[in-house]
Amino acid sequence: MLRGHFITVEGGEGVGKSTQCRRIIELLRSFEVEAILTREPGGSDGADQIRQLLVTGAEDRWDPLAEALLLFAARRDHVVRTVIPALETGIWVVCDRFYDSTLAYQGYGHGIDRKFLNALNKRVNGNLEPEITFILDAPTKVGIARALKRGGTEDRYERLMDEFHERARQGFLKIASAQPDRCVVIDGTEEIGTVASNISNKLVSHFNLERRKTSGRSTLSPY
Ligand code: TMP
Repeated sequence: MLRGHFITVEGGEGVGKSTQCRRIIELLRSFEVEAILTREPGGSDGADQIRQLLVTGAEDRWDPLAEALLLFAARRDHVVRTVIPALETGIWVVCDRFYDSTLAYQGYGHGIDRKFLNALNKRVNGNLEPEITFILDAPTKVGIARALKRGGTEDRYERLMDEFHERARQGFLKIASAQPDRCVVIDGTEEIGTVASNISNKLVSHFNLERRKTSGRSTLSPY
């Protein structure tokens, strides 16, 4: 039985997901919730190795189907070795990207049949689904410029055409409007603190989070 809660954060390049994921962890810990931060592709030893194959090298290193299969291989390892064991012991899991990224990038972006992706996803994840997903949205050019400025070697996707990233962005927005109960779209162009408090408000109300009081006042610093 899964006793923890599964939260995912999604969006295009440079929308600030990683920063917001860390803020979510801080928020949950401030409510004394035990939580881990993980990410895809990656999040387990095997998946981290596959990540290196995916995020480095030439843009056409993989054809879209091979890329999708690698992503699912990484996801399977991550889910089985990291996500499920944590959720089973009651630890909450915050994941920087998950299956919505596959639908947006490989489905909407590269044109892989979404029914095929959904079927593969069902096989790989079983009944595991995020309880709540934050989709950080920003204009494609703004996000890509931010991501390229950050630099580093993990830039294989960032170098793909703007049109690809725009299809992925629209894909995320379509996913959000098709699943409004799970997905919350957040304006990623706002200042970091504003984005964090928009997410925080939603999490506090969704999970009915309450701070434990000692001596009549909260022992925890405000988020
Ligand atoms: P990151 O930089 O956010 O960690 O993600 C690495 C890249 O992997 C990012 O450019 C998007 C891509 N990606 C996919 O194309 N499909 C997926 O399913 C996932 C999880 C990531």
